[in-house]
Amino acid sequence: MTDHPSHRLYGRAAGKPLSKRQQGLIDDLLPRIAIPEAGQGMLAPLSLFPGVREVWLEIGFGGGEHLAGQAARHPDIGILGAEPFVDGVAKLLTAIDEQQLTNIRLRRGDARDLVATFADSSIDRAFILFPDPWPKTRHRKRRLVQSGFVRELARILKPGAPLRFATDWSDYASRALADISASPDFRWTAESADDWRKPPADHVTTRYQEKRLGDCEPVFLDFVRV
Ligand SMILES: C[S@@+](CC[C@H](N)C(=O)[O-])C[C@H]1O[C@@H](n2cnc3c(N)ncnc32)[C@H](O)[C@@H]1O
Repeated sequence: MTDHPSHRLYGRAAGKPLSKRQQGLIDDLLPRIAIPEAGQGMLAPLSLFPGVREVWLEIGFGGGEHLAGQAARHPDIGILGAEPFVDGVAKLLTAIDEQQLTNIRLRRGDARDLVATFADSSIDRAFILFPDPWPKTRHRKRRLVQSGFVRELARILKPGAPLRFATDWSDYASRALADISASPDFRWTAESADDWRKPPADHVTTRYQEKRLGDCEPVFLDFVRV
């Protein structure tokens, strides 16, 4: 994993000890569905899923409720996820195992390192849902969504690909909206306040979202890669 000491984005990569079952899934299932490190050249995500028609990406999937939900709804789509927190990875592996989901590939680690390995225009849709808010002013540079990462997202997304960003922190919502809208590569699709105030019809509620830890109601910003 590339080190990003100047702006580490997440606090801890492990919490309470895993159960025996979770550890078994980390040891046995994760290696089978892990996104391989790119060798020479860039990774072609479609090659990871025989027979799928699109590849979606979820960044920082937490406990994986949204990712597993989308994978179950869309068995013809391959979904990639990156998450450094082992407890979250173990939770998602449990859902994959219980629901026998075959269209998910995972990276336990920093999504920025993963994204850097993807070929240009290789992802059909991306989700960044309730990323760590870093509400203190001096920590804002740790936020995932900032102009450099927006450029990387533009590079890997296909023209026409949707990008969804959600947060319940008002400052993060307005700054992400400004940063992403400032990019010539993205267009915000909202036409009325309900388009960002109400959860989109295709959204799957996450555990973190339900905790309501932010300072505003959840905001859903849907963009399209132009
Ligand atoms: C506030 S939680 C939200 C999790 C999930 N999206 C949800 O809505 O329940 C943010 C997640 O992003 C993860 N995260 C932080 N920095 C990351 C990075 N650089 N790459 C991938 N995931 C990251 C954290 O470990 C954490 O699980």
